[in-house]
Amino acid sequence: MKELIDFKEKIDKDKLEEVCKSIKDGSVIVFPTETVYGIGANALDKSAVKKIFMAKNRPTDNPLIVHISNYDMLDKVVSNVSKYEKILMDKFWPGPLTIILPKKEEIPNIVTCNLDTVGVRMPSNKIAINIIEKSGVPIAAPSANISGKPSGTLVTDIVDELKDRVDYIIDGGISDIGLESTVVKLDNDVVNILRPGAITKEDILSTGLNVVLDKHLFKDVKENEKVASPGMKHRHYAPKVKTILVYSNDEKKEYDRICDIINENNNKKISILGFNENKEKYINKPNVKFMCIGSKHDLNSVAKNVFTVLRKVDKYDLDLSIIEGVEKQGIGLAIMNRLTRACGYNVIEL
Ligand code: TXA
Ligand code: MG
Repeated sequence: MKELIDFKEKIDKDKLEEVCKSIKDGSVIVFPTETVYGIGANALDKSAVKKIFMAKNRPTDNPLIVHISNYDMLDKVVSNVSKYEKILMDKFWPGPLTIILPKKEEIPNIVTCNLDTVGVRMPSNKIAINIIEKSGVPIAAPSANISGKPSGTLVTDIVDELKDRVDYIIDGGISDIGLESTVVKLDNDVVNILRPGAITKEDILSTGLNVVLDKHLFKDVKENEKVASPGMKHRHYAPKVKTILVYSNDEKKEYDRICDIINENNNKKISILGFNENKEKYINKPNVKFMCIGSKHDLNSVAKNVFTVLRKVDKYDLDLSIIEGVEKQGIGLAIMNRLTRACGYNVIEL
């Protein structure tokens, strides 16, 4: 890494200029967005994009999202936008929504892994927008993490993981949302949600469009099974230790089941990833380490914390990790999607 740049308080104009020039010269940078941090490079530069795949150890069949800062850039990247896609752009851009669209030739095949579509997003984070605008090129950027790990939302975690693999890291503070963007693909006026995020199913329904959840959001992909988004096939977010997700809308039922698991494993070291409100119930158990994932009355706080806490699990010497689930509504759907994958589909729903 050439430099860790601090833009938390304000964006330094000279530094911004330096970074954007180096993007045009083929550098790879870590930069903040409102969802999670991205590892970005000029989307039109094949060899720069190749460096992203290498920095992340990313499977070469998993395409990258292209980030734009204005609609002229969109025209350079995609060949067609339907009136339904336009509705989504008008309502949710700039913001945490990625739309899969037919790609133009100018986007190199390495970005899209030879698909004829490209995922496009106009982020709302001020630093991200400034970087794209000043560079004057669309920026291909997956989440800032080594493939398989939780997406980076905190610069200290990202520096540990990626400092030797990128040119610049820009600190914009902790990510506002904490989960990656909602990814959608349209089939006429039907919006298929390929990855849930902060733009929720309910938000999209409010535009009058129809919504379908992809069948793989909560189900493992079998070998050779066809998927709508390559990312669904890859193992993600998982701590090394065995992890179980437990959820019931009946709190007592959920607590009793978790206690059963704790008792069955009384010779093991266990972490509970749970809500602040439930801390008192667990902290006196001798074999349990409680790790707070936020407040059950504020799922946005859970979204913001969840990747940071998942990363922490592996820092302790544990045998088992149990996560308290949330209702699959609003942003709860995205939280449960990431947690289901984090525990390798090891889910108890009561
Ligand atoms: O919030 C976000 O989306 C962050 C920030 C940096 O913008 N980026 C991000 O990128 O999460 P990544 O690469 O970690 O996830 C992109 C997802 C992957 O699951 C990928 O398979 C899917 O989008 N994807 C990309 N292009 C696609 C395409 N053409 N068709 C279907 N799925 C696509
Ligand atoms: Mg990712």
